[in-house]
Amino acid sequence: MESMHQMAQNAIGQTPPACRLTPEQAALIARNAEPLVAMGPEITAAFYDTLYAHRQTAEIFVDGERPMREKTFMQWWERTVRGPLDDDYWAWMAMVGLAHVARKVTNPMMLAMADFVAAFIGSNTHRLDLSEEDRRGLVDAFERVASVMSMIITYGHDRAVSAALFERSGMPSVLLTRLGEQTVREALADAKTELAL
Ligand code: HEM
Repeated sequence: MESMHQMAQNAIGQTPPACRLTPEQAALIARNAEPLVAMGPEITAAFYDTLYAHRQTAEIFVDGERPMREKTFMQWWERTVRGPLDDDYWAWMAMVGLAHVARKVTNPMMLAMADFVAAFIGSNTHRLDLSEEDRRGLVDAFERVASVMSMIITYGHDRAVSAALFERSGMPSVLLTRLGEQTVREALADAKTELAL
């Protein structure tokens, strides 16, 4: 598997620049770091209340794990809002993504919760002392952070699964890729039959 820096940059590189976080958006977040850090305990509580309230996400955690998870999430939050949201940060997100794959956290769970963070900011920035322009800018900026994180996490998930297949099966990667493509074509044909298309 590629390094975490390569993984993050490969994921971001696949996306149109218009979909990425801009330096201005990153600067806007960092300029508002103090009030955003102060929101840390609240967003952390909302995040884990949500995960623990749903059976499938609650089942990921082991007994007594919540305090540790809250601590690492709060560290993530503080690093995110203080920045810098640079290559090292995105490489860290690639690693965090893999830590979740190892715990069987699925892509739908990760993407939903990345969106949860952005939505939390969307619903709470009115409490910050900001101009309307900066408030809107901050909401957009967090949507981009969530989106770039999601790009890296889903890409990392694919890479981890493919690497496991390549390494464990001993089959040449070209052959595995071809078999994978064939399986997808068959699944697509079945899907069209199912949907009567
Ligand atoms: C925006 C989404 C998320 C963020 C930013 C986030 C952040 C983090 C961070 C920073 C860590 C520490 C990683 C490390 O250094 O080892 C972590 C670990 C963990 N998270 Fe999340 N998380 C997210 C979503 C989720 C979801 C949806 C679940 C479960 C349904 C979850 C469950 C866990 C678990 C079980 C660990 C421990 C991993 C281990 O055993 O090493 N996280 N998370």
